[in-house]
Amino acid sequence: MKIAVIFGGQSDEHEVSRNSAVNVLKSLAGRGDEIFQIGITKEGRWYLTDAELVDIASGEWEKYASNRQVCFACDPVVHGILILDRNNAATAERIDCAIPVLHGDHGEDGEIQGVFAMSGVPFVGPGVKASANCMDKSVAKIIAADTGVKMAKYTVITRHEYDKHRQEALARALSVDGGRFPLFVKPSSAGSSVGVTKVTEANELAAAIEYAFLFDEKVLVEEMIVGRELEVAVLGNCEPEASVVGEILTAGEFYDYESKYNNPESKTWVPDDLPEGVSDEIRRYAVELYKELDCRGLSRVDFFYSEEKGVVFNEVNTLPGFTNISMYPQLWAAMGVDGPELMDRLIRFALEEAGE
Ligand SMILES: Nc1ncnc2c1ncn2[C@@H]1O[C@H](COP(=O)(O)OP(=O)(O)O)[C@@H](O)[C@H]1O
Ligand SMILES: [Mg+2]
Repeated sequence: MKIAVIFGGQSDEHEVSRNSAVNVLKSLAGRGDEIFQIGITKEGRWYLTDAELVDIASGEWEKYASNRQVCFACDPVVHGILILDRNNAATAERIDCAIPVLHGDHGEDGEIQGVFAMSGVPFVGPGVKASANCMDKSVAKIIAADTGVKMAKYTVITRHEYDKHRQEALARALSVDGGRFPLFVKPSSAGSSVGVTKVTEANELAAAIEYAFLFDEKVLVEEMIVGRELEVAVLGNCEPEASVVGEILTAGEFYDYESKYNNPESKTWVPDDLPEGVSDEIRRYAVELYKELDCRGLSRVDFFYSEEKGVVFNEVNTLPGFTNISMYPQLWAAMGVDGPELMDRLIRFALEEAGE
């Protein structure tokens, strides 16, 4: 097969994507496929690259003289990519499956999925609608509510509202949890904890909201759920399977960017001490939410759990991390599905979804 692996991208999670891509490429190595490595720079330039994995991880891949400009052709007759040579002459190359190893803006939000859909190339992961709906946490919550799953109390503030009616917006945010703190403030569409603040007193609220507005036009203010962070890896199309439940043991105040990627003290494990029935409840909800949100291929569904509140849904990640410390591949490994087998299944689900 001819497989395009796309990484990098114009997103705050560009670096995370490069690290995820290295593991995806390693897992694909033994299949005998022809791999087309496509890197997208932070400026949004697309290059076909034969860079070594270490250079993809570090970002040095951008300096390879052999890189060629490349784009996905929206015309399904091409069914793949156009590679430009030094004289801008294009060569069409058929692609059998695209693997977007992209997180956040443009890559996980339905934009690139729209390009793949138009191109007719099967692709790994949820389609346009599910990607867009899951990326915007305020939309995902509305759809998720249909399953009856519990969620943190929350309110949404748009930039327009904040600019015009700041006092009303702040008053509503302050009363999200009956005036109690801490509150969590976050961009509605972001990831990797970018723009997320735990607010412990009223005079910190406005700054946290304004900080989150740096990353999105919509901001969520949520009740803090004091509990454990539990995640499930879901795999499949219309009859998806849920992995065992994994737990995040964060080294920081909460699971912020530093704790996620730069603090080796943060740990993940498959807990064996959850009260009877909790694990099953979480796995059941994970599958229900996956279906309700129309996910395909893969997604990681994240929850909180506390004795007081029970199981509380947090968010769905439609292109979860594949870094060395990422939960998604670890949870499938715990199920006996290693990296190569996981990629094999993801490619098969992509082909099945495209009817190929
Ligand atoms: N309502 C909440 N209660 C407790 N912790 C929260 C809440 N919302 C977010 N967090 C903390 O912030 C982290 C990042 O928030 P999350 O909603 O998962 O956004 P992201 O898409 O950036 O991962 C979570 O992993 C958790 O540690
Ligand atoms: Mg999260």
